[in-house]
Amino acid sequence: MNTKMVIPCAASFEEAAQLINMGEVVGFPTETVYGLGADATNEEAVKKIFRAKGRPGDNPLIVHIASLSDIHNVIYGEMPEWAQKLAEAYWPGPLTMIFDKGENIPSAVTAGLDSVAVRIPGNTDAQALIRAARKPIAAPSANLSGRPSPTTAKHVFEDMNGRIPLIIDGGESDVGLESTVLDVRTLPVKVLRPGGVTPKMIADVVGEVEVAGSVMRPLKEGETVLSPGMKYKHYAPEGSLVIVKGAAEKVAHAIIDMYDATEGEKCILALEGNLSLYEGRNVFSLGKNPEEMAHRLFDALREMDARGINAIFSEAVDAEGIGLAVMNRLGRAAAFHIVDAGE
Ligand code: TXA
Ligand code: MG
Repeated sequence: MNTKMVIPCAASFEEAAQLINMGEVVGFPTETVYGLGADATNEEAVKKIFRAKGRPGDNPLIVHIASLSDIHNVIYGEMPEWAQKLAEAYWPGPLTMIFDKGENIPSAVTAGLDSVAVRIPGNTDAQALIRAARKPIAAPSANLSGRPSPTTAKHVFEDMNGRIPLIIDGGESDVGLESTVLDVRTLPVKVLRPGGVTPKMIADVVGEVEVAGSVMRPLKEGETVLSPGMKYKHYAPEGSLVIVKGAAEKVAHAIIDMYDATEGEKCILALEGNLSLYEGRNVFSLGKNPEEMAHRLFDALREMDARGINAIFSEAVDAEGIGLAVMNRLGRAAAFHIVDAGE
């Protein structure tokens, strides 16, 4: 199969929508990361997503809709009133909410669960595609299973060339990390995966929010997972990755010691303001602040692979605000190998 890249325009949305209605899978931009979309009501089409990604069948997909009036096609019963408030505050946007599953959604989408994850993306290209298809669109991130999520159409092409017919190239993803996954079926609502909508933003609307313990540590032997995706190795670069936290000067010291003692192709990931601490060494900027870090992280991890780096040393950020999502992804990429250099 040839994989065609198209720019977003009325004709390309129409072409992509036709493919989706024929049961095909297309790559498309959202504000978080690129998605691999198919008709969420077509079981055979949904199975093609799993094949294209090499994704385990027990890891459920997110269903994307264009507006709140479409939610009754995908969930069972009414939205709890706290979920309605969250929808008013943060939809469209980088928030996925988990509800009881509606009958129109085949169990292939939810990996047999009786719940369904739903998101209204804010990206105008994603909106245009869903509206043109007139279907809810099931979509995971458009990477091969285990690789960093794609934040550009080029990333999608690297992973999906020959596997899907079409990719809509909408430029760089705004947020750069996947959506916040929030179980809203009962109170307190529970963050299963941190993202652009932070625990504080959620608490501001509903008062209390829990964060799943597995967000900032590896799963324990035999631990049941609330969000099946969390149990898989994810985002991992090919080289080894160590994260160092603490005061900037001490972090730099610890990183330099490890870097200088390491053979082979090596690289340091650091905040823009700290680059001068690593002079004379191979260092890659993660940007000026946690927001820029979120935006660049997956591209940086892919870049490390492209450069054949086999040892990566990264600065940490405070696990506050968007920093929680950054540290969750970075931590998982490093199998939670985090060194404390001290304050
Ligand atoms: O930003 C995003 O969320 C992107 C864009 C394309 O929307 N999508 C994305 O999908 O990241 P994916 O499949 O890579 O991650 C979905 C996560 C997985 O960790 C999955 O286990 C979890 O959501 N999930 C989906 N349905 C669930 C459910 N019913 N219960 C618990 N977790 C669920
Ligand atoms: Mg993913």
